[in-house]
Amino acid sequence: MNEKQRLENTLADSSDKKSEKDYSKYFQAVYMPPSLKDAKKRGKEDVKYESDFSIPEEFKNMGDGKKFYIRTYGCQMNEHDTEVMAGIFLALGYEPADGVEDANVILLNTCAIRENAENKVFGEIGHLKPLKLEKPDLLVGVCGCMSQEESVVNKIMQKHAHIDMIFGTHNIHRLPQILNEAYLSKEMVVEVWSKEGDVIENLPRARKGGTKGWVNIMYGCDKFCTYCIVPYTRGKERSRRPEEIIHEVRGLAAQGYKEITLLGQNVNAYGKDFADLTYGLGDLMDELRKINIPRIRFTTSHPRDFDDRLIEVLAKGGNLLDHIHLPVQSGSSEVLKMMARKYDRERYLELVGKIKAAIPNATLTTDIIVGFPNETDEQFEETLSLYREVEYDSAYTFIYSPREGTPAAKMQDNVPMEVKKERLQRLNSLVNEISAKKMKEYEGRVVEVLVEGESKNNPDVLAGYTEKSKLVNFQGPKSAIGQIVKVKILKAKTWTLNGEMAEEAIEVN
Ligand code: 5AD
Ligand code: SF4
Repeated sequence: MNEKQRLENTLADSSDKKSEKDYSKYFQAVYMPPSLKDAKKRGKEDVKYESDFSIPEEFKNMGDGKKFYIRTYGCQMNEHDTEVMAGIFLALGYEPADGVEDANVILLNTCAIRENAENKVFGEIGHLKPLKLEKPDLLVGVCGCMSQEESVVNKIMQKHAHIDMIFGTHNIHRLPQILNEAYLSKEMVVEVWSKEGDVIENLPRARKGGTKGWVNIMYGCDKFCTYCIVPYTRGKERSRRPEEIIHEVRGLAAQGYKEITLLGQNVNAYGKDFADLTYGLGDLMDELRKINIPRIRFTTSHPRDFDDRLIEVLAKGGNLLDHIHLPVQSGSSEVLKMMARKYDRERYLELVGKIKAAIPNATLTTDIIVGFPNETDEQFEETLSLYREVEYDSAYTFIYSPREGTPAAKMQDNVPMEVKKERLQRLNSLVNEISAKKMKEYEGRVVEVLVEGESKNNPDVLAGYTEKSKLVNFQGPKSAIGQIVKVKILKAKTWTLNGEMAEEAIEVN
C-alpha cells in the first residue's frame, strides 16, 4: 500500500465522516506546468490587487517542529521573494534552519538570466539527492525564474525525480497550499502560473537585519529586450499603489531602518500602468524623501523611461542618494537596435549629460553585454569608447547567453567564444582601470558609512557601504554596527576602501 492509499484509508476510517468529494481533493497532485508562450501575452484586463492575504486556519500548525532553508540565486527581486517566503514559513510555524543538513524543507529560489546561473542550480539539485535519499521526509522545492521555463520543468521531471515541488514566481503566495500538496502527494507537485501577474499586499515578510530593507514598488517587465527572459518569467509591468509603498517605508523608518532600496525590474516605468492616476517614480520619490529615513536608493533603471521629473526630484538630494545604476548594455546604436533597447548611443549620452548637469556629484554604474549575435569588433570598440566617455564608477559585465524562447536565441550566435572572452577581458580591464582611478580620489576624504557588521576576513575590522555603494573597511567600535558614521579613507584599493573612524564631522561626497 502506498502512502496515498494509507492516508485515504486512515481518512475513510476516521470518525470524521467527510464526503468522498470533500477529501478527494487531497489526492490530486497538482500538475500545472509553465508556458513561455502564455507568459508572453500582455492582456488588457486590469491587474488584480489583493490586499487580504492570510494563512488559512488549517495550515497554521503545519511547520511545528520543522525547519526551512531557502537558497537564493540571482537578483534583489529574488532576495525580496525569499523574504516573503521566509515570512510565510514563520507564519506556518516553521523555524529557520542553519543549513540544508538540518532542514525539513529546502527551497532553491532560482535565477534564469544566463545559462551559467541555471547550471549552478542544476548542480545544487544534484548535490541534494543523497540528502533526500537519506531523509525521505525532506521536501525539496524549486521556485523562482527557472521554474517559469518549460525546458527546466521538463528536465527536472525527467532527470531529478527527487524534487518534490516546483512553483512559479506568480505562485509564491500559494506556498502553504503547495507545501500541503507536497506532504500529501507522492507525485511531484508542479504549480506554475504563466500569467501577467497580480499585486498581492499584506504578505508576511521576514527581513534580514534591521538596517537595510528592500521595498518592492513594481513587478514584471514589458520591455522585451531581445536577449532577456525576465518579461516571460516575471509577467507584465504592474505597480503597487503609492499609498501602500509610502505606508511600508514609514513603517521601516519607525522601526529604525537606515536605508531602503526601491525595487523593480524597470522602476522607471513605475505608475505607467495606473488607469486612474498620472503618477511616476519622480512623484513617488518626491513624497518618500520627506520620510525620516537617511538613505533611499532605487534599482534597476531603464534609460528609455528615465524622465526629467525624476532627474528634477533626485537633484533635490537629501536622503535621495545620487548613485544611479543605468544599464546601457552596448555602446553601439546598431547593437542596441538588435537588442530592442529602444534608445541609441546618442540618446543615452544625452540622458547621462542631463543627469550630470542636474546632479553634479552623481555616480553612475551600468550593465554591459558583450558578444551579442553579430556584434563586430568596431561595435564592441564603441562600447569601450562609451564607457570611457561616461566614466562609470563600475559595471556588471556579461558574455551574451542565449535564452530559449527569446527573439535573440533565434539569431545566429556567430561570435566565437574566444572572441567573446577576449572582449569581456578587455572591457573588464577598462572597468578596473577607471574604478581604481575613481577609488584613488577617495584617499584623504571623509565619507559616511552605514556599518553592516564585522568584516568577513577580519572580525577586528568593521565593514559598511558609502552612499555611493563603496565597501569600506575600518577600525571602529562594535557599537557603530547599524549606525551611519564618518570614516576617513586612508587607502583605496580597486574595489574597497580602507579607513578609520573620523572624529570630525566633515561631509564630503
Ligand atoms: N545574456 C547575458 N546577459 C544578460 N542580461 C540579461 N539577459 C542576459 C543574457 N541573455 C544582463 C543584462 C541585464 C543584467 C541583469 O543581466 O545586462 O541588465
Ligand atoms: Fe530584461 Fe530589458 Fe526588462 Fe531589463 S528592461 S528586465 S534587460 S527585458
